[in-house]
Amino acid sequence: MKQTLILAFLALAAIAQGQNRKERNLEKWQFTRDGNNWQQVDVPHDWAITGPFDPKWDIQHLAIQQDGQTEAIDHTGRSGALPWIGKGEYRTTFNIPADTKYTELYFDGAMSEPVVYVNGYEAGKWMYGYNAFRLDISAFVKPGQNEVRVVLNNQEESSRWYPGAGLYRPVTLITAGEAHIDPWSTVFKTLSLSGNNAKLYVETQASTAKGKGETRLVARLLDAKGKAVAQKNLTTNTQGAASAQFDVANAKAWSPEQPHLYTLEINLYQGNKLVDRLRQRVGIRTIAVSKEHGFQLNGVSRKLKGVCLHHDLGPLGAAVNKAAIIRQIRLMKDMGVDAIRTSHNMPSQMQMEVCDSMGMMVMAESFDAWKEAKVKNGYNLFYDTWWRKDLENLIRGHRNHPAIVMWSIGNEIPEQWNKEGAARAKAMTEYCHELDDTRPVTCGGDNPKANTECGFFAALDVPGFNYRVHLYDELISKQPQGFILGSETASTVSSRGVYKFPVVEKKMATYKDGQCSSYDVECCGWANLPDADFTIQDDRSFTIGQFIWTGIDYLGEPTPYYSYWPSRSSYFGAVDLAGLPKDRFYLYRSVWNDKQPTLHILPHWTWPGREGEVTPVYCYTSYPEAELFVNGKSQGRRKKDKSSRLDRYRLRWNDVVYQPGEIKVVAYDANGKPAEEKVVRTAGQPHHLVVQADKNKLAADGKDLIYLTVSMVDKDGNLCPDADDELTFDVSGAAKFKAVCNGDATSLEMFHLPHMRLFHGQLVVTVQSNKAKGKVKVNVKAPSRNIATNWTN
Ligand code: GAL
Repeated sequence: MKQTLILAFLALAAIAQGQNRKERNLEKWQFTRDGNNWQQVDVPHDWAITGPFDPKWDIQHLAIQQDGQTEAIDHTGRSGALPWIGKGEYRTTFNIPADTKYTELYFDGAMSEPVVYVNGYEAGKWMYGYNAFRLDISAFVKPGQNEVRVVLNNQEESSRWYPGAGLYRPVTLITAGEAHIDPWSTVFKTLSLSGNNAKLYVETQASTAKGKGETRLVARLLDAKGKAVAQKNLTTNTQGAASAQFDVANAKAWSPEQPHLYTLEINLYQGNKLVDRLRQRVGIRTIAVSKEHGFQLNGVSRKLKGVCLHHDLGPLGAAVNKAAIIRQIRLMKDMGVDAIRTSHNMPSQMQMEVCDSMGMMVMAESFDAWKEAKVKNGYNLFYDTWWRKDLENLIRGHRNHPAIVMWSIGNEIPEQWNKEGAARAKAMTEYCHELDDTRPVTCGGDNPKANTECGFFAALDVPGFNYRVHLYDELISKQPQGFILGSETASTVSSRGVYKFPVVEKKMATYKDGQCSSYDVECCGWANLPDADFTIQDDRSFTIGQFIWTGIDYLGEPTPYYSYWPSRSSYFGAVDLAGLPKDRFYLYRSVWNDKQPTLHILPHWTWPGREGEVTPVYCYTSYPEAELFVNGKSQGRRKKDKSSRLDRYRLRWNDVVYQPGEIKVVAYDANGKPAEEKVVRTAGQPHHLVVQADKNKLAADGKDLIYLTVSMVDKDGNLCPDADDELTFDVSGAAKFKAVCNGDATSLEMFHLPHMRLFHGQLVVTVQSNKAKGKVKVNVKAPSRNIATNWTN
């Protein structure tokens, strides 16, 4: 027994010794904007998120043609009114052991135009700030200490939204032996899935060391418990690619509902020695699109319930953080979302890993423009030279994520009108197929007639309609694919807690306070209310789903407040910039979340001065019917009405007269039985603060986050919807204050400072763990009212 243990230990030790691959994130850097003043920063880092907000940083004088503007005007806040434009430089050092044969730097994205110097030599560069790139720096490094410098440059008018600035995604140092496996040549595919029987394909490539014996590649597939469910030797073809097919019985398929993951392990032996080992998380699943069955995952047709998301994380800016991404995906899943579109650029590895493990399908997008410009210094500057390299890195770097179900080669490309555009779409689609023959390719087009006529849509696997639901019926017969995806829908706007009277449908409505109404009846000129998208998805079998603009508010693009200052972030989200659900969240939830019932009423019921005035009440619910009571008096029962545009998915009482007290809805199930109730009461004076945490435990890794929602309530716990007190925050113990956000698009208070006003009674504080374990204490004060509360975990 003892002997066996010793042998096993020796074998493990041999494996450990045999593996030369080491990966580590370079986290500690020095940073400067002027070349003189250096500061210590942690990467991922966004140099612009600490502001201050000022329209002078990024004012854009132009006409937004896509939005129908014909004359140039000053656009303020379009890219966030934060100081992201200009140069920035980072430097750090790292050590290389003497026997290292291969050294690589992996950038998951650097904003933007990064030029990388290693020990003073230019080691490489990339242009597009959203893409990952790898640099083989073996020729520039020496044993012992080495220095890496990254110089970045963000050109003015290079973005339509806030792009972030700097090393906003991880930088990884990879060292390996002379013989090593190439992760980006590694492919994992599900060839077929019938019942539980999966046919899988694995391919990879490795470089070998001369004179060290014959090489052998062995692939293993490990289940969630680490048990090998398959093992094969790979056979190398004449081009150097090594591959094998596997049959796996009892396969557990990946889906948003059950995101089963496996680990693909590739072992490289030279002679008898294990010299490299690569592990990737993978999933077994199939995807198909067809006229007969629409979009299918694992052979089952489903319509995508999707959201478009920009990459920023609200008050954290563009700097990626796993806990922040998890929170976003959790919120979206609760809304019933099963897919996100990474509009309009390449996602981070971190986001895709979270989508893999939490179960969220992804349309991974690449560009917002090709050769023709949308903004003066956008991707148009690089298109000709770079589009192939950019698509290659996107697809090679991400193709083994089970979450990704579709590639998108662009969004509302200016040349979508013409033959040149169609030819580009064809070449790019073909190139995607070359790199990955398992996923369909799409592109969002906002002029579907022109997109159809010039052959642009026909060049794609999936015609992506941005808006224009009124053209679906007319154009479906002209789509050779036989189906339509709503690649971008809605663009309905609202501000949490804001209600405008009288309640009327409006396009591009603006108000003195820079806010939009939460009755969800306001949208952009080119857009529509959510109801129209639900209707076309429900009524037309040729639709394969939609991606709403947007799931969550983002920095920049404060449409319809193009020139209104201060306004510096979007109104499109179903969730605000702080991560707090707006009313619209519940409208989508009531239709999309088929696991849990939804019952939500709006507006709030604290309207001093509105006594006796008509104050419509809406109910967003998954139940078919409900009755509204105002101070106990029935306002009648409402049933969802398929024949009415706005009463099919909402229950509305349009003539309710406001009196303080309470509104109550009683929801009835399909059998007409009372199923659930909801009450909203008129709030009294602000009395105390309530703090609600999204979780209690923090990993002591210096990265993990807890989000604390702070609400001002009256003595009975009713939210005070007009409270706008300035709060202060003090974090002690095993965490530090990280950020605060109230979701107000017109606020100029900075996210990283420990004070902020409540917006409609609420805000969200983010605290970040230290590296030591322990209790966390957060003290929240409203000094003007002498109100304070403590939160501890
Ligand atoms: C679309 C565009 C999005 C965003 C949206 C706002 O046309 O693709 O990026 O600008 O409009 O409504």
